Amino acid sequence: MGGAQGRAEERAHAFAAVARTHLPQPRQPASLREIIERTAQRCYLDNFPETAVVLAPPRLMSSPVASSPSLLPPELQLGEPVTDAMHTEFVRLLDLAHDAPDAALVGALDVWIAHTREHFAQEERWMEALEFGPRHCHAGQHRHALHVAGLVRDEIAQNARFDLGRRLIGELREWFAFHVKTMDSMMIGHMRETGVAPVV
Ligand SMILES: [Fe+2]
Ligand SMILES: [Fe+2]
Repeated sequence: MGGAQGRAEERAHAFAAVARTHLPQPRQPASLREIIERTAQRCYLDNFPETAVVLAPPRLMSSPVASSPSLLPPELQLGEPVTDAMHTEFVRLLDLAHDAPDAALVGALDVWIAHTREHFAQEERWMEALEFGPRHCHAGQHRHALHVAGLVRDEIAQNARFDLGRRLIGELREWFAFHVKTMDSMMIGHMRETGVAPVV
C-alpha cells in the first residue's frame, strides 16, 4: 500500500471513529469521504440513469476567471467568476484555519463556517431557481459537510479536541475538491447550457 493511500485510509478510519461517536443515526455515513461518495452516486443514478460515471471533469467556460487564481488550483476553477471567487475564499479561510494556533482555531473555523453557509446557500438559491434536477443531492452534501464541521467545532470548543479540528481541515480539503469537480461542475454546466447567468 502506498504511503499517500495509507495516510488517506488512516484519516478515514480516524474520522469514522469520530463520526461513530458523535453522529446520532446508526446508518449515518461514517466520514466525509463516505458521505460524498454515497450522495454522488445517488445523484447520478437518480438524475442521470443512463450513465454510471461518477466523476465528471469540470467543464471550463470561456470567460476569464475574475478571482485570484493562485489559491484555487486550475483543476478546481470552473470558469464562472462568482463561483470561482467564492471557492477561492473557501480555500483561503480554510488555509487560515489550518495555520491558526490552537487558541485561535475555533474562531477561524467559525469564520470559515459563516462564509461557507452563505456560499452553500447561494448555490442552493441558484439551483432552486433553475429547478436543477440534482439540487437536493447537492444540497445534501452541503448539509452533511456543515453538520460534521459543526460537530467538530463544538468538540474543539468544549473538549479542546484540536486534533479533530486539524483532521477536519484535511478532510474538508478532500471533500471540497470532489464536490467542486462533481456537484458544482454539474451546476455550472447546467447554467451554461440553459444560458442562465448567476445572480447574487
Ligand atoms: Fe461551491
Ligand atoms: Fe456546492
